Amino acid sequence: MDNPPRPSISGLRPSATAPRPSAHASPSTVRILGVESSCDETAAAVIENGRVFLSSVVASQVDLHAQFGGVYPEVASRQHIRTIYPIIEQALAQAHLRLEDVDGIAATRGPGLPGSLVVGLNAAKGLSLGSGLPLIGINHLEAHLYSAWLYRQDGEPFAEPQFPIVALIVSGGHTELVMMSDHLKYERLGATLDDAAGEAFDKVARLLGLGYPGGPLIQKTAEGGNPLAYKFPRSWLEGSWNFSFSGLKTSVLRQVRALEAHSSSLPVADLAASFQAAVVDALVTKTMKAAEHYGAKAILVVGGVSANKALRESVKLRSTVPVYIPHISLCTDNAAMIAGAGYYRYAAGQRDSLDMDVLPNWPLTEV
Ligand code: KG4
Ligand code: ZN
Repeated sequence: MDNPPRPSISGLRPSATAPRPSAHASPSTVRILGVESSCDETAAAVIENGRVFLSSVVASQVDLHAQFGGVYPEVASRQHIRTIYPIIEQALAQAHLRLEDVDGIAATRGPGLPGSLVVGLNAAKGLSLGSGLPLIGINHLEAHLYSAWLYRQDGEPFAEPQFPIVALIVSGGHTELVMMSDHLKYERLGATLDDAAGEAFDKVARLLGLGYPGGPLIQKTAEGGNPLAYKFPRSWLEGSWNFSFSGLKTSVLRQVRALEAHSSSLPVADLAASFQAAVVDALVTKTMKAAEHYGAKAILVVGGVSANKALRESVKLRSTVPVYIPHISLCTDNAAMIAGAGYYRYAAGQRDSLDMDVLPNWPLTEV
């Protein structure tokens, strides 16, 4: 039986020019509106069946936070409040859909900054309450994993990754190695014991005077440098699947101080290239070992740092199984991945209530 028509939400109507595509949605088509606001990106997207993205809108606050050299939580949540509804409207308009044309609303519940999370989650709750659409709370780390399943509506479809999967999540807040035995089934193999990989990029970029966010700036600077110029340490932490980047960071600091004592100009490109090579080597070597150990049929590399060219190339070069790394635009925080994960949760029957609260420290293992 057809669902009863859902009321239209004031302010969330399509633009006058947007064609209405709902007529050509087959009964098996599930469209999820994703909402993301866990850190400093306000984002909304519409995804079909967990894989095809109809729209993805991201409002980055990076320029706002650059003056502070990192994300300023209070500023982030205030900015989310300003942009969240216009961004959701844009995502629906770009998908040529109205709110009542989607099947569910998925929003990031955690982990992330509490003040940022509440903005997106409460916006999603409001829409769910007004429309009667199901609400699904999403783990941001799980969403990063599902970014590897996504492709553009006008892009080339590709075969789904086969289980078991070994996945490396590398972002500004997390560095985790995860075994995925099936959809929504995870085992956390290891994680960083100190800095996340993205955090190390950001801190070393600051040390080298490159600015914020550090990852893309290190990558760009490293292009003109020699990755073998300095032999920075790799913490192998043998016998575990954990990572550590604080020793590497300290080693770069010592090297910089030593160089500064003898010269007024730093060989920034060589330092950036050597640092990047050390991070990539540590990440890729351990991921390959885990993939071999667990008989993985596919490797995923996701999260902000997976935008790194050297990392992408190294994983593809060294892996003997298919490697899935999202399109660059889907590596850093976005809502397409939230809607992607939302589809699999929706299909598994997850429906959350309006009294669901944010979980700023929510680990993936508890999902
Ligand atoms: O996933 P993400 O957008 O936010 C978190 O959930 O943390 O990741 C942001 C991190 C930042 O630390 C940023 O410096 C890093 O991803 N990043 C990169 C690159 N692009 C972004 N790191 C290395 N190379 C890049 N090209
Ligand atoms: Zn993230």
